[in-house]
Amino acid sequence: MLPESLLVRLRDARHVCVLTGAGVSAESGVPTFRDAQQGLWAQYDPMELATPEAFQRDPELVWRWYRWRRELVSRAEPNAGHRALAELQDLVPRLTLVTQNVDGLHQRAGSQDVIEFHGNLFSNHCFARCNDDHPVDRDDAKVPVCPDCGASVRPGVVWFGEGIPEEALNASFAAAADCDVFLSVGTSSIVYPAAGLGTIAYESGAMTIEVNPNPTEQSGTFTSTLRGNAAVILPKLIELLAH
Ligand code: OAD
Repeated sequence: MLPESLLVRLRDARHVCVLTGAGVSAESGVPTFRDAQQGLWAQYDPMELATPEAFQRDPELVWRWYRWRRELVSRAEPNAGHRALAELQDLVPRLTLVTQNVDGLHQRAGSQDVIEFHGNLFSNHCFARCNDDHPVDRDDAKVPVCPDCGASVRPGVVWFGEGIPEEALNASFAAAADCDVFLSVGTSSIVYPAAGLGTIAYESGAMTIEVNPNPTEQSGTFTSTLRGNAAVILPKLIELLAH
């Protein structure tokens, strides 16, 4: 059951900030990264795939992996958890939705102004960054080359060792520091700087809630935790908030 105190705080909230991770897309059939066995990392070593060095070493392998993920995500549908967050934006004065996911499912569920902390699977760009303004809208089987400079085209996602897009970073930190309620949904809270947003919110006086069927390294740092699946808990939260 949801704590009454959370509903009271949500009803009075001026600004709600939500951080999502791969767990919110799990019920859409999109594998998470670290869930044992079926997680993406179970059969791959992330250092072999999600780094600039991996792409330089074997661009075709990395390109194929992301192309496989794009096809998988294109076949997936937003789930009730995504839809609940899209509804939440109409129930509170201000909602900032920050996602670590690159699957675009929040937008397909109707969420506006989603902050994509780790980029997006569907926005490729030139590896040499000759012209960041125009994503290269290609999905060739082989690694495309940049039409402007001939360098390889790469997926528009943030790789290990790369910085978070500055606008996304600043907007997310500002929202965490300003919000009255912070929801962390479906993330193992392992990868920084995204994993630091909950603490910023908590230290700024927000009520912070973790929504996850499993405990995480940071569970003890939240005001409270709701143990369960996002596609079950979030719709229940919205139903109680809307009535
Ligand atoms: P993880 O795979 O690390 O964690 C997924 C979390 O979702 C786990 O804590 C699960 O318990 C939880 N979970 C699973 N099913 C769920 C459900 N139905 N409802 C709610 N939670 C559920 O994925 P992330 O935390 O998103 O970064 O990983 C963070 C970052 O690490 C990713 O963005 C990616 C990865 O490396 C980059 O690639 C830069």
